[in-house]
Amino acid sequence: MNICCIGAGYVGGPTMAMIALKCPDIQVNVVDMNAARIAAWTSGNLPIYEPGLDDVVKQALGRNLHFSTDVAGQIKKADIIFVSVNTPTKTYGVGAGRAADLRFIESVARTIADQAESGKIIVEKSTIPVKTADAISAILAANTKGLKFQVLSNPEFLAEGTAVKDLMNPDRVLIGGERTPEGDQAVATLAGVYARWVPRDRIITTNLWSSELSKLVANAFLAQRISSINSISALCDATGADVDEVANAIGKDSRIGPKFLKASVGFGGSCFQKDILNLTYLCESFGLPEVAAFWNSVVTMNDWQKSRFAGRIVKELFNTVADKKIAVLGFAFKKDTNDTRESAAISVCRDLLAEHAKVCVYDPKVRAEEIKTDTLGKGAENPLLTIAKDAYEACAGAHAIAIVTEWDEFKTLDYAKIFAGMPKPALIFDGRNILDLAALRKIGFRASGVGKHD
Ligand code: UDX
Ligand code: UDX
Repeated sequence: MNICCIGAGYVGGPTMAMIALKCPDIQVNVVDMNAARIAAWTSGNLPIYEPGLDDVVKQALGRNLHFSTDVAGQIKKADIIFVSVNTPTKTYGVGAGRAADLRFIESVARTIADQAESGKIIVEKSTIPVKTADAISAILAANTKGLKFQVLSNPEFLAEGTAVKDLMNPDRVLIGGERTPEGDQAVATLAGVYARWVPRDRIITTNLWSSELSKLVANAFLAQRISSINSISALCDATGADVDEVANAIGKDSRIGPKFLKASVGFGGSCFQKDILNLTYLCESFGLPEVAAFWNSVVTMNDWQKSRFAGRIVKELFNTVADKKIAVLGFAFKKDTNDTRESAAISVCRDLLAEHAKVCVYDPKVRAEEIKTDTLGKGAENPLLTIAKDAYEACAGAHAIAIVTEWDEFKTLDYAKIFAGMPKPALIFDGRNILDLAALRKIGFRASGVGKHD
């Protein structure tokens, strides 16, 4: 069997590396139009940071895992083609700011229709609006060679930072297909690939639309839990309750469960906001404005939480931060990734820069250029934004420290030493609730967390 994956990003790269590792008899070819990205995958210096991924790639690379820019050639050879290209939020026209921009998906479908010389199974890996399979099928069916394609939906549930673990041992694999004999056959073929390492009872098969919708709904439910606990964090700030204590108390109820109840500066990442906006757009398109408004409030709460965090720093610094140095520790949207898409750090930095603060950022994995581009826009400069090479440099002389990403190394910094080098009163604001605030107060810090009273 020969598998091709179009799109060598955060989803396509790790997923294909795992399939190649677990199925040594299957040739897996990952292609991407971005030559630099493809070169990086084989260079030993992977284009994405993901714990454990180096090792998985090393084991399969050259054996049955290959990376190239030869999209047309690999399409011809493949029995199964995964589509893992990005589906950003549309920035123009109808649905701008909410609907998914499907131009990459469409262009990939057209390329497959043009290049294929035999019928194939096409697998949607990218998160896409419900009914996208219809559009892909229509484009593929319009091929002039009389070829038959089966389109499957196989959404990815891996989380960045734990991708290898999630792929190795997934809670479930979801495969949606057309409920026809050919559709069932295609579903069985793909299920057979995963069954090499995933127990059969964790491989769920559904119709196409259920599978497409389940991905959006899973992310909406997860994000909803964070916005729910973040809304309560504001109430904790107002009343003196401690949000971690509340989360622990409610999470012990087995119907609620303990996960995804960590109050924070706000969720980020390439999926949550995008998928909820997509879901709300879908609801509106189907004449369900109340349902759209319900889910949209999850995003509204998240935006508010991000601005509330920056606002509290300004307030605690006596409502004036102009020319004061503020250290921002962490820029990735969560720990153990170099991904900054939709990271809360972006809006925190922008809000502080708007108040003319001197913002000094440190992140262990995000490149300085990326931090500048994300915050200021491509090519823009602002002397108030600087990037430090470590946390100590970022904090030296700062009036306040904001913990924005929960990197483990921030838990073990020498805060007494840091405190000594800061103008007083020195403030520390833990946007991830990872630090021992009582210990920091003993040193002399004014220390706050999210939903943690001072
Ligand atoms: C993306 C989406 O963000 C996610 O919602 C979806 O579920 C899967 O696809 P990710 O892998 O993180 O996830 O995206 P990204 O890292 O941007 O990778 C996409 C890759 O596709 C890029 O390397 C891009 O160069 C490539 N691509 C895009 C093509 O090869 N051809 C195209 O026509 C478009
Ligand atoms: C998410 C889904 O978890 C995954 O199943 C899907 O395939 C893609 O989207 P990801 O965005 O990689 O994965 O990371 P996730 O761990 O879900 O975190 C998203 C954001 O929520 C991060 O900014 C994280 O810091 C934040 N978060 C998470 C909280 O603020 N509190 C929590 O309790 C959990």
